[in-house]
Amino acid sequence: MKKKILEVLKENRDKFISGEELSNSLGVTRTSIWKYINGLKAEGYEIESIPRKGYRLIEEPDILSKDDLLIELKSSRFAKDIYCFDKIDSTNNYAKELALDGAEEGTIVLSDEQTGGRGRLGRPWMSPPGSSISMSIILKPSINPSEAAKITEITAAAVTIAINNATGLDVGIKWPNDIILNNKKVCGILTEMSAELDNINYVIIGIGINVNIDEFPQDIAKVATSLKKVKGKYISRKNLVINIVKEFEKLYYNFINTGSLKRTIGICREKSVTLGKTVKIITKNGEIIAKALDITEDGKLVIKKDDGQIINIISGEVSVRKF
Ligand code: BTN
Repeated sequence: MKKKILEVLKENRDKFISGEELSNSLGVTRTSIWKYINGLKAEGYEIESIPRKGYRLIEEPDILSKDDLLIELKSSRFAKDIYCFDKIDSTNNYAKELALDGAEEGTIVLSDEQTGGRGRLGRPWMSPPGSSISMSIILKPSINPSEAAKITEITAAAVTIAINNATGLDVGIKWPNDIILNNKKVCGILTEMSAELDNINYVIIGIGINVNIDEFPQDIAKVATSLKKVKGKYISRKNLVINIVKEFEKLYYNFINTGSLKRTIGICREKSVTLGKTVKIITKNGEIIAKALDITEDGKLVIKKDDGQIINIISGEVSVRKF
């Protein structure tokens, strides 16, 4: 019921809607409406209530709540189910459990804080409360496991566009999965998969964004930044999450329906901070120093090694900084 009331208030934003109208259309007493409105106020929604005029939504809090996100994303093919936590070890861990329990493709897990956030190569990922986005999306694509790396690039492209839509900031992509702002990392993506030889059981994409973090610990301050630090003002996490889901599903379904990564690669090339640079690539077979030439239509990084040999890399940890 609280979700329905919030939905009506959002639809009638800036207009008064009487307690009587709400009670008639939703089939509950005016006293119940009053109680739910108070519940919303306690969550931080600023709602004006004037006798004989009714209720008016003035301001929404920047909280990541299931009801609110379900309303905002109701036209989305994704986000039919959303789990929002105040604190959890890792949204990727929880998403894995849900995926194993049969959760639908597009199910989203968010947490205000992570106590055991994980980055790539087993590194820890810091997700302080109230100032970051820690989000995981469950996917069950009918593609070959060898194609799963493409989903990381779809995510990077979608997050790049979403950050630009929500903040006006022009972020870059360090191939394949770091989002860079002013030469520092602002977002990381961790794609995890459970698969058999020719069949994917599920893919979890984990997205961590430094949104309103003011200060970083000394050891990471040199390499990390936040959207707020660069923009110089508070950024709504809710608006950013909504944008990410919308941009992600556009690129994801385009790929699933056409089999082509063309749109994603167009964005990855345009926004690349890797192309044209000398890079160090850490692969499971060792380090390679090479020049990054291009990204292929199917998402591989084309590099030219010192001996002139040109090869394509499917995935790896890339360092573009001076080394
Ligand atoms: C990286 O750059 O190393 C990837 C960082 C990914 C962090 C996100 S936050 C949400 C999700 N849950 C996790 O434990 N990790 C990912």
